[in-house]
Amino acid sequence: MPGMQLHPDLAEIAPLVGTWRGSGRGTYPTIEPFEYTEEVVFAAPVLKPFLVYTQRTRHADTGEPLHTETGYLRTVEPGRVELVIAQPTGVAEVHAGTVSAGRIDLRSEAIALTPTAKEVVTVHRHLVVDGDVLRYRLEMGALGQAHQLHLEAELRRTD
Ligand code: HEM
Repeated sequence: MPGMQLHPDLAEIAPLVGTWRGSGRGTYPTIEPFEYTEEVVFAAPVLKPFLVYTQRTRHADTGEPLHTETGYLRTVEPGRVELVIAQPTGVAEVHAGTVSAGRIDLRSEAIALTPTAKEVVTVHRHLVVDGDVLRYRLEMGALGQAHQLHLEAELRRTD
């Protein structure tokens, strides 16, 4: 992004900045497997050491809107990141993790649920940026099931 000003502490996560589109697959023992399309934006709107993260998905076949979420990814010290995310399903995730050579590994420190949200206990998020390709995997422990894969996706930079 020519001319964009980034806080110097963002250097390790700067490769995320931009708009990404692609597709993914979802699975869990309690549901039928599904495929989705996704748009992700990581933006650095102000000269501060955090990125604004937004995500929207649609069902790959029907185009119906599926999951969406938004949050903040911040750098706290070299090699370390923190993430907070809010979801319209009543789930809020608080993560801590590491960043190294374009790879980000996050584990939930806390998951907070509204009274009617589905029971999510743990979430791990793994992202790899390789040039113009962003891949991620998301594992969760929810609804009494063992912690396991829920999502994997591959996105490409569109700006
Ligand atoms: C790309 C993002 C995501 C997509 C496309 C997605 C899609 C889906 C779909 C289609 C279902 C089954 C139908 C439904 O209950 O609506 C589902 C279920 C579920 N998802 Fe996700 N999801 C995403 C992210 C997440 C995240 C981040 C969490 C937790 C933090 C989560 C937790 C759950 C839970 C708890 C269920 C309920 C399973 C059940 O009722 O048996 N999902 N998801």
